[in-house]
Amino acid sequence: MIIVIDGPAGAGKSTTAKEVARRTESDYVDSGAVYRGFTYLFMINDFDKSRLTEALKNHDLHFDFHIDNVRVTHGDKDITQTIRSAEINNRVSEVAAMPEVRDEVRRILREISGDRKRGVVLEGRDLGTVVFPDADYKFFLTAAPEARARRRFDEQTRAGADTSLEQVRENVEKRDRIDSTRDIDPLKKADDAVEIDSTYLTFEEQVARITDFVRSMRTEN
Ligand code: DC
Repeated sequence: MIIVIDGPAGAGKSTTAKEVARRTESDYVDSGAVYRGFTYLFMINDFDKSRLTEALKNHDLHFDFHIDNVRVTHGDKDITQTIRSAEINNRVSEVAAMPEVRDEVRRILREISGDRKRGVVLEGRDLGTVVFPDADYKFFLTAAPEARARRRFDEQTRAGADTSLEQVRENVEKRDRIDSTRDIDPLKKADDAVEIDSTYLTFEEQVARITDFVRSMRTEN
């Protein structure tokens, strides 16, 4: 069983997807972490796109997805924390707009998900439209921009980041703009995805909308 949850930054995809995975006894896959891994590769290649294209052919990035967390390594270096840094936040949309990177990430995501005995819950931007057009369940999670910036800010300050709400809002808005207007695989709701606006929902309500829907469809079929 493949459940995909797409949507913009800060809509609550990660926390929701992890909890849905736990309740449906599935594994959780964060596709943004894969783009972030390639942004690390871009960073260590001096932000030179032609060097990144070259490095893609034989990269040493590994993504281990467990029930509710991910470990990213480059060679034997653990970069799980590094890929959440402000520098990576600021460059990730640029890398995610490169067709060569998207091809490689699509291949990795399909390989990771095809390999599993359990179900998989994946979160991202183009999973329902491009990567898994035949997913069993598709959801599109949104929230008002102000609510999304506030959530990302709370999340980052809890993790010890030194940032302001204004800085976070600017980053979220900039990424939304790039992610939704890029030519290739833009952030977009799949026609057959169920849309959930989480602005006024509690976390529990958000999760329940998804798990109730999955349960009702499974008992119907
Ligand atoms: O979910 P996140 O903030 O970690 O994602 C980081 C970036 O990766 C996001 O700005 C856009 C890109 N991304 C994408 O283009 N397609 C996906 N399926 C997932 C993420």
